[in-house]
Amino acid sequence: MAILIKGGRIITADADRAADVLIEGERIAEVAESIDCPDADVIDASGKYVFPGFIDPHVHIHLPFMGTNAIDDHASATKAALAGGTTTVIEMICPGPDDEPRAAFEEWKALAEQGACCDFTFHLSVVRFDELAKQQVRELVASEGVASFKVFLAYKGALDIADEQLFELMEIAKELGVIITAHCENAEAVDAMQKRLIAEGKTGPEWHEPSRPRCVEADGVSHLCAFAELTGAHVYIVHTSCDAAVEQAMEAKDRGVNVFVEAVAPHLVLDKTCAERPDFEGAKYVMSPPLRDAEEHEHLWKALACGKMLTIGTDHAPFNFQGQKDMGRDAFTLIPNGIPGIQERVDLIHTHGVCENRIDLQTMVRACSTNAAKIFGMYPRKGAIAPGSDADLVIYDPAYEGVFTQSESESQADYSGYEGTPQRGRPSLVLRRGEVVARDGRYIGGEGGGHYIVREPTH
Ligand code: URP
Ligand code: ZN
Ligand code: ZN
Repeated sequence: MAILIKGGRIITADADRAADVLIEGERIAEVAESIDCPDADVIDASGKYVFPGFIDPHVHIHLPFMGTNAIDDHASATKAALAGGTTTVIEMICPGPDDEPRAAFEEWKALAEQGACCDFTFHLSVVRFDELAKQQVRELVASEGVASFKVFLAYKGALDIADEQLFELMEIAKELGVIITAHCENAEAVDAMQKRLIAEGKTGPEWHEPSRPRCVEADGVSHLCAFAELTGAHVYIVHTSCDAAVEQAMEAKDRGVNVFVEAVAPHLVLDKTCAERPDFEGAKYVMSPPLRDAEEHEHLWKALACGKMLTIGTDHAPFNFQGQKDMGRDAFTLIPNGIPGIQERVDLIHTHGVCENRIDLQTMVRACSTNAAKIFGMYPRKGAIAPGSDADLVIYDPAYEGVFTQSESESQADYSGYEGTPQRGRPSLVLRRGEVVARDGRYIGGEGGGHYIVREPTH
């Protein structure tokens, strides 16, 4: 049976207009000022926005990291995503230094195929880089629809990659036309600063930010961009937390480097005083790059408004406060890094971005959906409201007012970093390929049903 969405305000990257949307099966069949289809089920969207399904370009679900595992599985994380209006996620495959890339890809894909309720695809982290790994990453691009790699310049001795290997990987990426996404912090500087602070007895979560200050991140961005300039690879800087790092990327862009910059919700909304909360509560807010001074918020919002930053992800990396974050009670270096937020992202951006007049609705759509689809080779299947696109749609109620709370989240994390803060707007209905799977901020679909999105190299 067809579905007809009537009377909504359609907001896409390039249009803002009143129109109806007809869905047949899993695809959008027609978008027009007024559509009549007597046989269709009608959804009344008057007073609501109709957005393309949102895409989160940076999530961690299966994540063995810092001696533990992130607490969500694919079912809980993707139900949370859908409840919050995100219909496609790009998950980081994060193998260890001894793991083969193909085995890692197969492990992550099997888990997602078993549990994921929304559509999914992957950035493949390259940690091991011997001859076998090189051969396998080439094969994964050629035959498995992998179109982006991930590198960590941070996490010395665990996930980081040597410069010699980084250079060669970027040459391969250039040759294959895939994009390198990168966590940019100077690993050696972080390591030295951590040792110094711990030796001085500065062990609490509030010392996490001083151990990796802004210059460390800006240095990482500059380093990556120099390699991009030399190899011609396209690079995408993930979770950029501060103006200094954004400006390093912009300087490189001015020199002709193909660089894209991502923001993530925690850096736009939370600040480093969160990590100073007493009774070890600050550990809930330890992530890398760290939360910065609140003054950085305006820099980042402006960078989004003017297109210096193109996407907003979450960097969803959920670790429980009890039993996981508290592994670092004696040393902040042992606190698993990450903050949950896959469900809250869209509402946070609406609340703090659109309602505060920092960005407009179309910038929100570009940053939270369309630009990721374009950069990562999913457009116009995803990120668009157009005939032939997947019928991933969010009918959004801008008038809703409430508060964020962990108790209403599908994520299994035992806290929300946004607990008790005001929420303005929420998805009334979320459609995943033509099926209603969430209503009023709650997941109402069945188990599974997410599809793996095969991607093509983009340049
Ligand atoms: O603190 C963070 N961001 N945790 C997840 C791993 C990463 O660096 O993205
Ligand atoms: Zn990272
Ligand atoms: Zn991450």
